[in-house]
Amino acid sequence: MSVKNDLLTLLDQNRGRYISGEQIAERLCVSRTAVWKAIKSLQDYGYRISAVTNRGYSLSQDTDILSVPSISKYLDGSARDLRVSVFKSLPSTNLSAREKALQGEPEGLVILSDQQTVGRGRSDRGFFSPAGTGLYMSLLLRPKLSVGDSLLLTTAAAVAVAEAIEEVSGKKTQIKWVNDVLIDGKKVSGILTDAALSMENGGVDYAIIGMGINVLPPTDGFPPELQGIAASVFSQENGDIRSRLAGSVLNHLMRYYADLSRRTFLPAYRERLFFLGKSVTVLKQDGPVKAIALGVDENFRLRVRYESGREELLSSGEIQIRL
Ligand code: BTN
Repeated sequence: MSVKNDLLTLLDQNRGRYISGEQIAERLCVSRTAVWKAIKSLQDYGYRISAVTNRGYSLSQDTDILSVPSISKYLDGSARDLRVSVFKSLPSTNLSAREKALQGEPEGLVILSDQQTVGRGRSDRGFFSPAGTGLYMSLLLRPKLSVGDSLLLTTAAAVAVAEAIEEVSGKKTQIKWVNDVLIDGKKVSGILTDAALSMENGGVDYAIIGMGINVLPPTDGFPPELQGIAASVFSQENGDIRSRLAGSVLNHLMRYYADLSRRTFLPAYRERLFFLGKSVTVLKQDGPVKAIALGVDENFRLRVRYESGREELLSSGEIQIRL
């Protein structure tokens, strides 16, 4: 690791406490000048580090800047083996992960960015990704899955995000079929999975699970088209909340990934299903039809009952649905 990363880890372990330049130099086996330069560079990046003569340096408790050490300390189980990279600004973490996948990168790479300039959503929509307030994260996997089963990745990710949000915020979440995560009926997270076919066996070659979470209210508010639809998990800053959330999402997701085909996350998905028992409009090619949402089957198809009494299993992508 670089001096900067080592220093960050040390300051983070001593958050809110002062640690002298001399102690830091000794612990990191570098000169006092190197310590000073690294502190300066972290401060320039935006870390709130106070420097007090005769006491040393201290990282403010409420610093919420994403970094490899700030996230890694929250990883457990197989998530500890993930290779995490953090960027200040990227066009899209899914696009960056795809570039890596095409270059042959093995599974287990996680790319995060503080901001995305062309964040991508489903159905060719964008994903609003302002700096400092959201979590934009893509995980590259090379699962042994048939293409038909690739929906398991997206739905496992939806449960992982929902559970992580509940764990760190204490708030109840719901999942809007297929993979939007809601709090009080408003979208706080969206997931976009990009998968590519293997030419050799017709299965999945790589899959990139891109997860976007509105963690804090955007500094300039949500754009008009998202107002009333989108919300953020927290209403105000709360320490290193984005790092905690990132760690928790990855921990939950990697546990489900280890045993994906057993669908151990299905009960947790069903418990949170937003549409359950509600009247929905199924937008089919030949027009809208009213129905009641009854639940999802083991392949995450939505079972609906039409006014005629006929039941149907709907696949995501085939139809659009609205309340
Ligand atoms: C949706 O709600 O339509 C899906 C949104 C997915 C957004 C995430 S943010 C991280 C990753 N990078 C992207 O460009 N998109 C996904």
